[in-house]
Amino acid sequence: MRVHVLGSAAGGGFPQWNCNCQNCYGVRNGKIRAVPRTQSSIAVSLDGIRWLLINASPDIRAQLEASVALQPKRGLRDTGIGAVVLVDSQIDHSSGLLMLREGCPFDVYASRMVHQDLSSGFPIFTMLESWNGGINYCELAIDGSPMTPTGFEGLQITAVPICGKAPPYSPHRNDPHPGDNVALYIQDIRSGKSVFYAPGLGGLDESVIDYMIRSDCLLVDGTFWREDEMIFAGVGTKLAREMGHLPQSGRGGMIDMLRCFPEQRKILIHINNTNPILDEDSPERAQLSKENIEVAYDGMEIGLDASESLLTDANVLTADIATKLENQRAGQ
Ligand code: MLT
Ligand code: MN
Ligand code: ZN
Repeated sequence: MRVHVLGSAAGGGFPQWNCNCQNCYGVRNGKIRAVPRTQSSIAVSLDGIRWLLINASPDIRAQLEASVALQPKRGLRDTGIGAVVLVDSQIDHSSGLLMLREGCPFDVYASRMVHQDLSSGFPIFTMLESWNGGINYCELAIDGSPMTPTGFEGLQITAVPICGKAPPYSPHRNDPHPGDNVALYIQDIRSGKSVFYAPGLGGLDESVIDYMIRSDCLLVDGTFWREDEMIFAGVGTKLAREMGHLPQSGRGGMIDMLRCFPEQRKILIHINNTNPILDEDSPERAQLSKENIEVAYDGMEIGLDASESLLTDANVLTADIATKLENQRAGQ
């Protein structure tokens, strides 16, 4: 199984069009060692020909032009994209569907709550009906049952409901429902290899830990370094956790959490333009390296090939980790 990172930045990208923060100014003017990044999207494939696009970012056209494997090859109109999965109805994860309108109909897997948002507050599903009848909506179950997208025999995805708000335009913005935000456990049935993908993750509950333990690779929320990053950078007022993102630093932060998963490959993704880890010479980036945590970049290829799984008994580890996380939260 291969994971291709199309976009490793959070909403707004890096640099953000109207941002002059230290990072955005620095990368525009060559003042910091950093690479620009587009908005949040990955693609997964078992054969390198048919790809499952996970989140359709507003930058999708440029992302596909930079990704030969997903480009048309077999006919006058063609694509390497076999289906699309959405983890939420956020603009940075769904608005790219409008750029794919010439390819309608195509299968889009999303929870019922995401379908509701994208048929009401941000009605792109409805709008796309003007192109060849629009998308084929396929419900993404949130009861823990794994499913195989049509045409992806051998690949299994399980949506894991996670805490977090629906976007500002959702009719139930202040009334969260399971399915507003999901993480994905993606497994290659033949090799047994798996990746846990959560570009937005506000905290780790038992169910999330259980899937993380089973995964060979954790591709998780790297949005903010500090809880008050937007305030500290002078560009916002919300705290990281309020936005559904566990910051890397601080007690009970993502670094603390990931220490409990020594066997897994750990990669941060969905990096906000204000995050100091984007500067490859920053002390924060050095701290991640020390913790054996990688930072995703556009074009990154993650190979999860068949080899004996290094993971020990998941059940034992989950209980052990849950205890460790509790102790960390309690500051022990
Ligand atoms: C988020 O991940 O917090 C949202 O995507 C923010 C945004 O894109 O507006
Ligand atoms: Mn986002
Ligand atoms: Zn910025």
